[in-house]
Amino acid sequence: MTDVTFGALGVPQPLVDALAADGKTTAFPIQIDTLPDTLAGRDVLGRGKTGSGKTLAFSIPMAARLGTKLAGGNRRKGRPLGLVLAPTRELATQIDAVLAPLAKAYGMTTTTIFGGVNQNRQVQALNAGVDIIVACPGRLEDLMKQGYVHLDAVEITVIDEADHMADLGFLPGVTRILNATPSGGQRLLFSATLDNGVDKLVNRFLQNEVLHSVDEANSPVAAMTHHVFTMDAETKKDVVKTLASGMGRRILFMRTKHHAKKLAKQLTSQGIPAVDLHGNLSQPQRDRNLAAFSSGTARVLVATDVAARGVHVDDVELVIHVDPPTEHKAYLHRSGRTARAGAEGAVVTLVTHGQEKDVAQLLRKAAISVKPVAVTPESAEVAALVGQVAPYVKPEPVHTQVRGGGTSQGANAQRKRAARGGQGTGQGAGRGESRGAGQGRGRGQGAGRTQSTDRVQGAHQRSDQSAGHTRSAQPAQGNPRTPGRRASGGGTGKLMVGSVVRQNGGNRRAGR
Ligand SMILES: Nc1ncnc2c1ncn2[C@@H]1O[C@H](COP(=O)(O)OP(=O)(O)OP(=O)(O)O)[C@@H](O)[C@H]1O
Ligand SMILES: [Mg+2]
Repeated sequence: MTDVTFGALGVPQPLVDALAADGKTTAFPIQIDTLPDTLAGRDVLGRGKTGSGKTLAFSIPMAARLGTKLAGGNRRKGRPLGLVLAPTRELATQIDAVLAPLAKAYGMTTTTIFGGVNQNRQVQALNAGVDIIVACPGRLEDLMKQGYVHLDAVEITVIDEADHMADLGFLPGVTRILNATPSGGQRLLFSATLDNGVDKLVNRFLQNEVLHSVDEANSPVAAMTHHVFTMDAETKKDVVKTLASGMGRRILFMRTKHHAKKLAKQLTSQGIPAVDLHGNLSQPQRDRNLAAFSSGTARVLVATDVAARGVHVDDVELVIHVDPPTEHKAYLHRSGRTARAGAEGAVVTLVTHGQEKDVAQLLRKAAISVKPVAVTPESAEVAALVGQVAPYVKPEPVHTQVRGGGTSQGANAQRKRAARGGQGTGQGAGRGESRGAGQGRGRGQGAGRTQSTDRVQGAHQRSDQSAGHTRSAQPAQGNPRTPGRRASGGGTGKLMVGSVVRQNGGNRRAGR
């Protein structure tokens, strides 16, 4: 692939400088594909594999457009100009970390908004006036209801993990939130598995959008190897322990919060420091555990699907599906916590008797072709994934701060309880904050495999995009800059591989 610099893609100099300060000078394929359109103000659906650089793909235009052509005017209390929606608190925090330096290049501020923590800091930030918010839907709606935040000045909305956010549990909230933004705003939807599930959002909220898809929906991440190990239930515990014992970072996915907690404890007591991440932990505990994993204090993270989507930790060398995921998208997102940004990584699914058929079906759907191998902890195949064994670490007394027996009253918790429909305590398998999914694969594939499928190129469609963007001192109120926005026509099949983006015709709103 020939290197394409951010500057060559039209990224303004202050952002080129901010990216360079972070060691990023050339763009990844999903960024090369989408930036010309996103910077021009188009609505974009971006599909790029896990670890392929989607966060920057949407953060750059958000900062560039709000910092220059759009918005303007004085920062106003409780009226952000940019909104990013993400399914989990960890992901919101990570997105904010990417976005904040870019926003800062234009003197703009950002803040995260999510549940599980006291709202005071968030309210203070809103009251002080903040330009961009990165939010989970539950708390955002809470704060909207309390009158601390109004979305009528939002000019750009991003939905990360869009297919997941369009799932049943999130859809009503996301719809209400988008309804509260001006209908003329720019909307960007990104995910590694941007499938037809997002159609409801697309049809209702996007206009004249363009789909950019890097590689086929099901093409594998080049640097990711897949393995399936079969064993009987009694041997599994030892296989897990052995696989967890290597030097590099590894993530073990489990279906339930309870099992994740138990396994992390068990491994730690066996001399393999492990931390857990799931919805039964308090947010400070979740933060501490992820920080311990990122810093290397613990090399092993045992997580539910709350960690499956979007969360990035450098150099995860192995993902272990201790409990096989329930569906192929979950397999792809979970697996995608390794082999990111061109790095290599391995994925192994542990299968006990009775699970073979389901796993085979799931892998078929994920387009992963791998022959199951029967293993014991001593098998060469296992040893190959372990690599060098880490030294034994004497277990320290654990101070786990598990959330007390109370019942969370946050909007998110209420939504989840409602979704469970009163099934008692329901431990909803792996449904941390983000109900599941995950799947993985992907990254930007350093090589020139970009196939900008589905790209709408019509000159007439582009001609109106560069029109001047007058800085308006009064951005809000129905977005007067974007008259005549048309409702999108249907067409659910448009997100299928090889489909061509819907061309609604009609001019993009002036000034975008
Ligand atoms: N142009 C670039 N140059 C160098 N590194 C980059 C570039 N773009 C992104 N990265 C790095 O690639 C890694 C993965 O990026 P990111 O988290 O945005 O992936 P993603 O596509 O959102 O994956 P997922 O589908 O799992 O959410 C990050 O560490 C990011 O800093
Ligand atoms: Mg992401």
